[in-house]
Amino acid sequence: MSRLIVVSNRTPGRGPAAGGLAVALRKTLAARDGFWFGWSGKLSDTPSEEAHFDDIDGLTIAQIDLTREDHHAYYAGFSNSILWPSFHLRLDLATIEGHWYEGYRAVNRQFARALLPLLQPDDIIWVHDYHLIPLANELRNLGARNRIGFYLHIPFPTTDALYAIPHHNELMRDLSRYDVVGMQANRDVTAFTEFADHQSPSSLSGNPLRSVDFTRTETAAFPIGSDPDAFARLAVTPAATKMVKRVERSLRDQKLILGVDRLDYSKGLPQRIEAYEKLLANDTRFRRAVHMMQVAPPSRDTIKEYQETSDTLDAICGRVMGRFSEPDWQPLTYVKRAYGQPSLAGLYRLARVGLVTPLRDGMNLVAHEFVASQDPANPGVLILSRFAGAAEIFPEAIQVNPFDTDETAEALRMALDMPLDERIARWTALMEASRRHSVDNWAASFLARLSPDTSGGVGVNRDMLYLASTA
Ligand code: F6P
Repeated sequence: MSRLIVVSNRTPGRGPAAGGLAVALRKTLAARDGFWFGWSGKLSDTPSEEAHFDDIDGLTIAQIDLTREDHHAYYAGFSNSILWPSFHLRLDLATIEGHWYEGYRAVNRQFARALLPLLQPDDIIWVHDYHLIPLANELRNLGARNRIGFYLHIPFPTTDALYAIPHHNELMRDLSRYDVVGMQANRDVTAFTEFADHQSPSSLSGNPLRSVDFTRTETAAFPIGSDPDAFARLAVTPAATKMVKRVERSLRDQKLILGVDRLDYSKGLPQRIEAYEKLLANDTRFRRAVHMMQVAPPSRDTIKEYQETSDTLDAICGRVMGRFSEPDWQPLTYVKRAYGQPSLAGLYRLARVGLVTPLRDGMNLVAHEFVASQDPANPGVLILSRFAGAAEIFPEAIQVNPFDTDETAEALRMALDMPLDERIARWTALMEASRRHSVDNWAASFLARLSPDTSGGVGVNRDMLYLASTA
């Protein structure tokens, strides 16, 4: 079997892997030869030309250091102040500083130069996420002829939002240098196809008035998942149970409504707290009978828009606490720190309602993990944003428009009042879908398309576009 080289901005660290991507790929890579390549997390005065290898919990990791200046332009700048907000349709929160593109390009070139000498001709390369869109092009410019795939973990933007991104034509040309481009949801493939079919190239970009040729790139939806059976086991371990007991004691008989998200403006956190506020305001029987817990570890906090989101959330949580708290009852716990997976699994299991209401999201693995952690005999209810990729595979969740806080408040009421037989019926269907879309199936289906022996030649295969996600 060909070696697999996984490339991403962050690489997995020691101990339990934190991010969804790390969790997802650790297992795949552990099962075959190859290594994980990415940024070391270190900043240096000069960019490293060679990668240094490390063994982290049995995984071979090759890493390079970046300069502070390049890292700022590449990560906080182009990736997270331009691509992230634009791909999430938040152009109002984008900071369009076109010069960051130079740093973004320079880091991708540095990745390519350091990776190329490590490659063997048969290696297949799997590049992850929006930080590294140009990587295949940079590798091909240096002579790499390997099969290279790209997976986008965030939503693909509408054509208008794409046009707002400086150098969008070059980025799309970069995407066309991949053999396979994988997206989270059919919605993303539709947006990509819309661009590919109706692109109107900008006369200001690098190659004026030339459309991008996508005929050599296969594009399909490969919805990512979790490891639901492992999560189900985790939720009843002593470490998870310790958290359950701790919170149960303070909850007494109140039903727990739980949200767990990185502190990011795409997650719809202020709207979510407002919906809870409406629930308490509209229906007094829920006061003292429910408790909401929002876990929101800070993220990308050097970026102004993230600091502002954090301030907004502080203010809204304070307002709800002040409005409804009694000397012996608080409506809300807001926890601004990260927890390990066992503790989270315990919290998910304890919750009567999992509130997963991003304004726009690639997939949202919290939805998967909440489902997997439930007690089959007494499961909680998933309330899910229709704008999360997960909405395509979880029709049995209560789906809401997260911008409509009245609708989310009503969904909360429905979830809290839902009888046991309906909870079990919905959860059974959700758990089946989560198993069908497990992370193992996700990785296997993407790699099956990327592997030279199973790829059916080149060319955009329109019939393929929807197959992966419905299989
Ligand atoms: O959701 C996209 C993503 O890049 C994930 O892959 C990652 O876990 C998360 O955002 C965190 O991002 P960052 O590396 O900026 O903290």
